[in-house]
Amino acid sequence: MFKISNDNISIRIATPEDAKIVNTWRNDGNIMKSMCFPNGTGESIETTANEIASYEKKLSKFCMIEVDGNIIGDVDFRINTENGYAGFDILIGSIDYQNKGYGTKILRLIIDHIFNDEEINKTVQVHTIDILVAKYNTRARHVYEKLGFKIDREDPPFVNHRGEIQHEVCYIFKREWHT
Ligand SMILES: CC(C)(COP(=O)(O)OP(=O)(O)OC[C@H]1O[C@@H](n2cnc3c(N)ncnc32)[C@H](O)[C@@H]1OP(=O)(O)O)[C@@H](O)C(=O)NCCC(=O)NCCS
Repeated sequence: MFKISNDNISIRIATPEDAKIVNTWRNDGNIMKSMCFPNGTGESIETTANEIASYEKKLSKFCMIEVDGNIIGDVDFRINTENGYAGFDILIGSIDYQNKGYGTKILRLIIDHIFNDEEINKTVQVHTIDILVAKYNTRARHVYEKLGFKIDREDPPFVNHRGEIQHEVCYIFKREWHT
């Protein structure tokens, strides 16, 4: 069973029971505003549960983050076996646990896993990890840059569900930059 543990951090597969807390975070505008959703995503619990279930038995994983046994957020990563790209999403939903170094540590563990995991490497050698981030999400951008991600491109602006124009930047991290 997939699990990454490091000090007091544990990254484990999400279960159907985790859909409730993930859905609560996603519907909280205060938590989601940095991800272009100032009113939350408005998604139903069924949608969240289906998304979690869609990762079952795949190299891609939808995981819960625990610190000292407390659930503090979720992180998922997606392996594209066709083209060798991987992507991820991270949400530290417990605001008390943001800005304490956990996001940086967790993403370092996820990057190591994507590039080093035997099961993944048997199927595909991921060459690039990419992530789209809101231009104004300066904290996430700072964390990605600290980890060694570089800007690949700025996508054309799009209109969100509130009719607001949003700008996103795509960061990439190449296998050869991983030490
Ligand atoms: C983005 C996120 C994963 C970062 O994790 P975290 O545990 O909060 O971040 P860390 O404590 O590891 O690092 C934060 C860094 O950003 C810096 N920072 C904090 N606020 C900042 C801001 N507004 N602008 C720029 N940098 C900022 C901190 O000083 C720290 O940098 P340092 O380590 O060089 O001192 C987490 O805050 C989160 O889940 N946010 C909401 C969802 C989100 O934005 N997800 C990413 C979508 S692409």
